[in-house]
Formats: sequence, C-alpha cells, structure tokens
Amino acid sequence: MQSSSSRSNIPVSRSNEVSCSSSNSSNSSSATFANSREKKKYIEEYNFPFCDEASKYERITKIGQGTFGEVFKAKDKRNPKKYVAMKKILMDNEKEGFPITALREIRILQLLKHENVVNLIEICRTKANASNKYRSTFFLIFDFCEHDLAGLLSNTNVKFSLGEIKKVMQQLLNGLYHIHFNKILHRDMKAANVLITKNGILKLADFGLARAFNEIKNGIPNRYTNRVVTLWYRPPELLLGDRNYGPPVDLWGAGCIMAEMWTRSPIMQGNTEQQQLTLISQLCGSITPEMWPGVENLELYNSMDLPKGQKRKVKERLKPYVKDVTACDLLDKLLILDPSKRITADAALDHNFFWVDPLPSDLSKMLAQHSQSMFEYLAPQRRPGQRPHHHQVFFNQSITKSFIDTGYQDRIF
Ligand SMILES: Nc1ncnc2c1ncn2[C@@H]1O[C@H](COP(=O)(O)OP(=O)(O)O)[C@@H](O)[C@H]1O
Ligand SMILES: [Mg+2]
Repeated sequence: MQSSSSRSNIPVSRSNEVSCSSSNSSNSSSATFANSREKKKYIEEYNFPFCDEASKYERITKIGQGTFGEVFKAKDKRNPKKYVAMKKILMDNEKEGFPITALREIRILQLLKHENVVNLIEICRTKANASNKYRSTFFLIFDFCEHDLAGLLSNTNVKFSLGEIKKVMQQLLNGLYHIHFNKILHRDMKAANVLITKNGILKLADFGLARAFNEIKNGIPNRYTNRVVTLWYRPPELLLGDRNYGPPVDLWGAGCIMAEMWTRSPIMQGNTEQQQLTLISQLCGSITPEMWPGVENLELYNSMDLPKGQKRKVKERLKPYVKDVTACDLLDKLLILDPSKRITADAALDHNFFWVDPLPSDLSKMLAQHSQSMFEYLAPQRRPGQRPHHHQVFFNQSITKSFIDTGYQDRIF
C-alpha cells in the first residue's frame, strides 16, 4: 500500500471533549458540569470507545526503559497463552492532552502492517481517578517478541551462523524496503530496536522518531530535524547538519547493525558528534567533496574538524571479523559516505550476499537452544554501575583490550 501520509495528516485534536488532565479544563471541555465533583465523576466513568482498560493485561516484568517510557511483558488475562509488550506513553510534560509524538508513532504503526514490522494490537488506558489525579496512562500494546538484537548480540552463548546472519539482514532490509516504500523514515535504527521472535521472525520496532518523508517538490528542500538517530548509528549527512535527508539514513544504520552481527558490539562508539565523525572518517575515509560532491554545502561542513588524508578501510578492518567476501562487499556499499551513492534496501536485497551459498537460513532452531528472553535492558551491565543507554559509551574505541564481565563478554572492534 502506498501512503500519502504526511505530518499534516496526523489527526491531533487539541480540544479533547473529555480531558484526561485536570490541568486543561479552561479551554477544552465541551461537556458542562455543575461542579468539579460532577466533572471528576464524569471522567472516572467515561468509557473510551475503542480503547480498552490496561487491566485486561497482567504485567509480568519490565523489559525496556527507553527515552520515552517503560516497556513491560504482559499476559492477556482472557487468553493466558497470549503475551504482549506494553509500552507506556509518557504524559508527564503534556499540557495539551495526548502527546503528538505518540500519535505520530501510532499513525505510522497503523500504516506499516508487515511481517517485518512490529505489530501494534491496540491502545489501552488506565482509568482516571483521584489517585492518578484524573490523568489516564496510555499504553501501546504490541505482539510480544522474545528477543531484541542488542540482547542477543551481548550474549556470547548466542552464535549466529553465516546463513542465520543472512536471514537477519534479509528480514531487516525487507522491513526497511517496506517502510521506505510507504514513504516513512525510521530514524532510529540500532540493534535494540530490532526485535526477533522465538520463531526467528525479525520485526523493526520503535517508531518513536519515525516520520513521513516527501521527495523534493519544486526544488524546495525539506527541512527535517537532524537531531535524530542514536549517535553510534548516525550517518555522516546528519552529523554534518543535513536537513534534506531521506531513506539512506536508515541504510547507514543497517550497515552498522550488519557489522555488529560479527563484531558483537557497535562498531563506532563516539562520545560526541565530532568524535563520531572522526571515527567514521577513520573507517570510511576522509569526507571530501571529491568523494561526496555537495558535502561542502552542508551546514556544519566548515565547523566540524574533518580528518584529512584518511584512506577508506571498511573491508580491510571488517575482514578479520566478517571473513565472507560478499558480506564485506555489501557492508562496503551500506557504509558509503555519500548518501546518494549508498545502496538502497531494494538493491541490497538483490546483492549476491543473499543469493550465494550458504543461503539465508531459518533462525528458529538456533533460538530454541535459548529459552530465556534476551533484551538489551536485561543484559548484564557492561561495566559496573552502567546500563546500556542511548549515547553511552561502554569502552573507549582506542582501548584494544577486551574485558570479561560476569556472564557476557564485550568484543572490541
Ligand atoms: N513488542 C515487543 N516485544 C518485546 N520487547 C519489546 C517490544 N517492544 C519493545 N520491546 C523492548 O523494549 C525496548 C524499548 O522499546 P522501544 O519501542 O524501543 O522504546 P524506546 O523509545 O523507549 O526505546 C526495546 O529495545 C525492546 O527491548
Ligand atoms: Mg528503542
């Protein structure tokens, strides 16, 4: 299905008929109440159509803590064999009702129904009452996936064969092809946002930063924010301030994730935007107008310190880990500096990597050896006192000694 969804299509009602917050009573309520007790009673007893109560699910354990809220594993009380993930929508800073960022995520998830995109089942809410100051909590309810890729990769007991790595990447690129075909950018590709079910089906998740995009119309460039994508997976065009970007931003992330299938930890762990650009230049070669015509016009091109005279070393540096020649070739095409030359999801799916022996192979047998769910959030801490977290560095890139924690082991690229 081709979508024409754009930002303006997202229905945002700022004048909720029934406010879930006591703070916006002045301009919002069209129902009239004799007094505030009556209003509270009305809110308490209001039955949202198409929005069941969250109490139909029994929370089991917390499995995620992202920037925008907590995620829980839960069980459907009416169907105890059915597990779901409940993602809490943070309402704390909302004075205007339902947060627009969550609405955007919901709209996009409703559009993107696909085997390789996480399935949104419904939205649920808690009842508003005095104990929550008449503010409902809302949850996105998803089909439960047993693992995320960051969790799997941080466990050295989980071993992917070459055919299994191909299956992961084929499904990831299939998902990206689908979302890009529907004119959506994910904008937060990273291993923690890639889910894998126990049956070995990969699902792209976390559309919290996703947005619709347009091809450039009448020569007027887009002006999207470039403060997206977790630093380690952020492509050079965003780091240089591009605001007229497109699907290649997600393919850079796909390249970083693909390399991580072998290195088992993120390949470029910068602390700052500047450091990230330095790490990229050291791997992919110097960023120059010769390699990337037009780069000199990007907003931050002159204000960032871009290392000169760096040779491109993608294949050379990844070969000791990756070994497979066609894999190195695909990685080389995903990690291309110039976004206009970077391989598309469509072309990547046609790459020899997926069509020569060993062919992509089912993951379910390998996963059956691991009965425990693996999530980034639940993985043992990489360093005492630290949790894997956005923009957090586990170790310095220049340190070459690997260290062993209790349980999992970090490998350094
Ligand atoms: N459907 C799901 N099944 C299992 N785990 C999930 C599901 N959705 C999210 N998670 C877990 O919760 C984490 C955070 O969810 P995510 O949607 O990425 O939100 P955030 O924006 O907070 O990062 C994910 O990295 C994953 O480990
Ligand atoms: Mg996430």
